[in-house]
Amino acid sequence: MQIETIDKNKLPKHIAIIMDGNGRWAKKHNRERFYGHQAGAEAAKDIVETAAEIGIRFLTLYAFSKENWNRPQEEVKSLMQLLIQGVTDNLEYFKSLNIKLKTIGDFENLPENVKQSVLTAQNQTKENTGLTLIVALNYGSRWEILEAVKKIALNIEKKIISIDDINEDLFDKNLNTAGIPDPDLLIRTSGEVRISNFLLWQISYSELYFSDLCWPDFRKAQLIEAILHFQNRERRFGKTSTQIKNNNENCK
Ligand code: IPE
Ligand code: IPE
Ligand code: MG
Repeated sequence: MQIETIDKNKLPKHIAIIMDGNGRWAKKHNRERFYGHQAGAEAAKDIVETAAEIGIRFLTLYAFSKENWNRPQEEVKSLMQLLIQGVTDNLEYFKSLNIKLKTIGDFENLPENVKQSVLTAQNQTKENTGLTLIVALNYGSRWEILEAVKKIALNIEKKIISIDDINEDLFDKNLNTAGIPDPDLLIRTSGEVRISNFLLWQISYSELYFSDLCWPDFRKAQLIEAILHFQNRERRFGKTSTQIKNNNENCK
């Protein structure tokens, strides 16, 4: 798959990815789960680089969920270490690609050393104007939605806003993703067909794409293929196909 095959006028502005299958990839190669996470980090770098090259504006990578704390302590520890490494070792490279780093999720409750490396990277890339790379870290969509509800409720209690001010726009502004457009394309690897508490509000109208490959095998060619699929979809947002392009396609 070549980048040139992508229609630059129909690019998804925001791609979100559930990077799943590192453990199964390692098992397939008769290695420890850690080895899979390491390979997964390399795939993530590849995808960031490709997204920047294609001209994608926003890329969100689901790196660690709130539920992932329930994994064996050793695995959690190694994942945190890989996160620090991924952010620190790639910082100069991201800067050279004009990438801006952001995170979503419960940042406060991350280990101190993870927070420090992320803050440094965020600070040093905040003026960049290329791809915005959003890492979902200690993220859970239900948590995010409840946080937004609490912030809004507090503002009502303080009489800063009234109940009538609550609308989709206000709710958007109170989410971690404030200012970031909703994903146009959501990708999940590893053959699992579920959302796992990821961006529940934001993906209302995203196109969903599932790949059977384990995450470490999802590379440049596969991202291009996913984007080409996206470009062949018809996004109707509730309208009829005739309204969109004067052409009624049949269901199978
Ligand atoms: C994704 O791969 C990485 C994280 C969730 C952190 P997994 O570790 O979930 O891999 P599988 O699903 O066990 O194969
Ligand atoms: C989703 O993968 C979370 C991340 C990719 C970080 P999981 O492997 O944790 O999801 P489930 O448990 O299979 O739904
Ligand atoms: Mg998994």
